[in-house]
Amino acid sequence: MERINLIRRGAFPQTRMRRNRRDAWTRRMVAEHTLVADDFIWPLFVVDGADESQPVPSMPGVDRLSVDLVADAVGEAKELGIPAVAVFPFTDESLKTPDAREALNPDNLVCKAVRAVKAAHPDIGVMCDVALDPYNSDGHDGLVRGDYVVNDETLEVLCKQAVVQAEAGCDVAAPSDMMDGRVAAIRRALDGAGFEDVRIMAYSAKYASAFYGPFRDAVGSAGALKGDKKTYQMDPANSDEALREVALDIDEGADMVMVKPGLPYLDIVHRVKESFGVPTFVYNVSGEYAMLKAAAAQGWLDYDRVLMESLMAFKRAGADGILTYAAVEAAKLLKSG
Ligand code: PBG
Repeated sequence: MERINLIRRGAFPQTRMRRNRRDAWTRRMVAEHTLVADDFIWPLFVVDGADESQPVPSMPGVDRLSVDLVADAVGEAKELGIPAVAVFPFTDESLKTPDAREALNPDNLVCKAVRAVKAAHPDIGVMCDVALDPYNSDGHDGLVRGDYVVNDETLEVLCKQAVVQAEAGCDVAAPSDMMDGRVAAIRRALDGAGFEDVRIMAYSAKYASAFYGPFRDAVGSAGALKGDKKTYQMDPANSDEALREVALDIDEGADMVMVKPGLPYLDIVHRVKESFGVPTFVYNVSGEYAMLKAAAAQGWLDYDRVLMESLMAFKRAGADGILTYAAVEAAKLLKSG
């Protein structure tokens, strides 16, 4: 009401909206949102071997790194002011089984990478997915019985996986599996094992999206995946349902919630932040990254500018932080002004 009156009183020519836009210094003064390196979480891919740096073809500029190279990469991110990284393993085909038992191996690739990163950089946050897809010969996030991804049996494995990762030094357990009840179960398991300070960032509103394609190439799960993930990930047609998912995860003990994918789901980010006011993160996923890179490679878009504009859009929608493969690039751009 108040605002409508203001607009009437301030009609042209008294009001000229362009005055504040005229110079860079006023534009800076009236900017409603800012982007800083603190906003970023950098997801990175690890692979077996030594001195390995394997480009991911569908994600130009992203390499899978062997454990010996990961700590240096994380060191660069830390220097740029990025507070946390998320580690994803490319698991060798021979280690994938229907029971995803490699997920519980304390010496699996992700655990080795977490130990290496925390040893070199104890003061950077390390996140790990809690989900079985890197280890499951079916490519699904949960155990498959017949042709269905079963919920309650999966929870037992996820709980053990979260504890194994916490033992390796993981600071933030990030359940990305979309099983029902997983946040409460994982919280109980972590507390029971003495990890009451390990945080949970729940992939609360995670949609069954085709924008994850390049990620599945990067972790090598694309070939393994039988069918799709529609029986557990959300239907892109729904938005109220995202609020129910978030409410449940907060009740179950999530410290932070996440919406995924990002750019096509800014409405969800906005509703979640407005409705709950909890730390809300957004995953700028692999397909979104690939789109900008591909268009830029054609000379059709100015990469640096569309990147920063996209990241600002997340802040404007209400995100407290952004998981993005472009975290290091963006932090460098912020630093260079
Ligand atoms: C797996 C997982 C996925 C992503 C993060 N964790 C893919 C999926 O659910 O199939 C997607 C990330 C991206 O596309 O960048 N649980």
